[in-house]
Amino acid sequence: MVLSTDGWVVVVSGAARGQGLSHAKAYAADGAHVVLLDAPSGLATVPYPVADEDDLAAAHAEVDAAGPGAVLSYAADVRDAGRVAEVLADAAGRLGGIDVAVANAGIFSFAPSTWELSPETWKECSDTILYGSWTLARAAIPHMLGRAGANLVFVGSVSAHKGIAATGHYVAAKHGVVGLMKTLAIELAPEGIRSNMISPTAANTTMATNPAMAECVHYQEGRGSNMSNLLPVGLIEPRDVTDAVLWISSDHARYVTGEVLKVDAGFTVR
Ligand SMILES: NC(=O)c1ccc[n+]([C@@H]2O[C@H](COP(=O)([O-])OP(=O)(O)OC[C@H]3O[C@@H](n4cnc5c(N)ncnc54)[C@H](O)[C@@H]3O)[C@@H](O)[C@H]2O)c1
Repeated sequence: MVLSTDGWVVVVSGAARGQGLSHAKAYAADGAHVVLLDAPSGLATVPYPVADEDDLAAAHAEVDAAGPGAVLSYAADVRDAGRVAEVLADAAGRLGGIDVAVANAGIFSFAPSTWELSPETWKECSDTILYGSWTLARAAIPHMLGRAGANLVFVGSVSAHKGIAATGHYVAAKHGVVGLMKTLAIELAPEGIRSNMISPTAANTTMATNPAMAECVHYQEGRGSNMSNLLPVGLIEPRDVTDAVLWISSDHARYVTGEVLKVDAGFTVR
């Protein structure tokens, strides 16, 4: 049994910062070869800056310094299925295949109520989170076939498991990824490929700490119970999520598939 991801080829979308960067560095430290995708273009409805090519270059250097394996990074928007397929084919060609794909890229936006979202806001969020999870999986799976232990990890959210006011597009997209993850678990089981989801509560990254979040929280006040963690913590750290991502993608979890592992400090319990 392989006890770590040493020597594996791991793809992480949204890897230029935040949780994705944390995952990428941890895989590198574990001995994996790591492929970073990020630096989307043309996202106009996100109330904070997404990562750019400079961020991706800085992330590449950090991941490279974290471990002995190869690091490849690509400017690729997960909404561009052709580009994602092209870069994963290139990475797989250079590194010999793909063992793990982590669909982590995501954006967050809001409106006072979900019916007041602009169509553009709905579409950018859904295209990045739901369609973008599928574009990564579709591009990775052909390069995973025949590789022992290969698996997909989708990054969900507490929003994948309950309704949350002012963010119906994000909630719907994350719920959709649950269905995608489970369906792929069924389809890929005969190939020995697993498919799972890690669902974090609010984490200490730009997505949750940017100034616009205060307005979102204001819209949510009094419109849903239990909008807090059960455990006494406000924001969890990326590393808390990374530990779960690494475990579920390793052979330690070799018979775990179609599963959601919540790293949510009890947010969804009540
Ligand atoms: N931060 C939280 O509170 C929280 C909570 C639950 C779930 N999540 C989820 O965790 C994941 C990681 O988010 P984070 O907290 O690290 O936020 P983040 O904003 O720091 O990082 C997200 C990364 O995804 C990239 N990205 C966004 N759209 C993209 C696209 N179309 N193509 C390629 N890359 C794209 C961004 O450039 C950025 O580098 C997301 O799926 C998010 O929905 C976050």
